[in-house]
Amino acid sequence: VIAYRDSITGIHAGHLQGFFVGWPNPPSPEVHLNLLAGSGHVVLAVDEETDRVVGFVTAITDGVLSAFIPFLEVLPSHQGLGIGRALMTRMLSRLKELYAVDLLCDPELQPFYEQFAMRRAGGMMHRNPDRQSGPPGKA
Ligand SMILES: CC(C)(COP(=O)(O)OP(=O)(O)OC[C@H]1O[C@@H](n2cnc3c(N)ncnc32)[C@H](O)[C@@H]1OP(=O)(O)O)[C@@H](O)C(=O)NCCC(=O)NCCS
Repeated sequence: VIAYRDSITGIHAGHLQGFFVGWPNPPSPEVHLNLLAGSGHVVLAVDEETDRVVGFVTAITDGVLSAFIPFLEVLPSHQGLGIGRALMTRMLSRLKELYAVDLLCDPELQPFYEQFAMRRAGGMMHRNPDRQSGPPGKA
């Protein structure tokens, strides 16, 4: 059974294994936990049997007009079960009073986000590969 939580209370780094699939230099579970703690909003999908996190989505917001969704991921073992949709539905519900909710994704993911009445748009990005695993000394 999957439970959805909107706080990290009771979550430890040990509950956060297997994320950032395909990242050459992924953040550690400890850095992942810091990232969750520092996000204005978080929704977690927790496998109640094992107490492990199997999916998460974060949002950062100014609290007035705008939010950005930097991360959504479901563990490969749990994809295709509706968890990603449930995470996004819950997050968008939490952000529904805001004017703008934005995210970047590859074109292949655009049909996934269209089911939430999101529209395709262009975007710009900058990445610092040396910091993919987090700030210095925190990897
Ligand atoms: C994208 C991701 C979060 C989807 O999560 P998921 O739990 O597997 O998706 P769901 O099972 O909730 O899918 C819900 C619906 O979206 C559809 N869907 C899922 N991935 C899709 C995709 N890439 N393109 C189009 N539709 C997609 C599913 O077919 C399903 O539709 P259905 O109910 O009509 O069959 C997951 O595949 C993932 O973590 N991928 C790797 C990380 C990633 O790409 N994150 C997004 C970064 S922008």
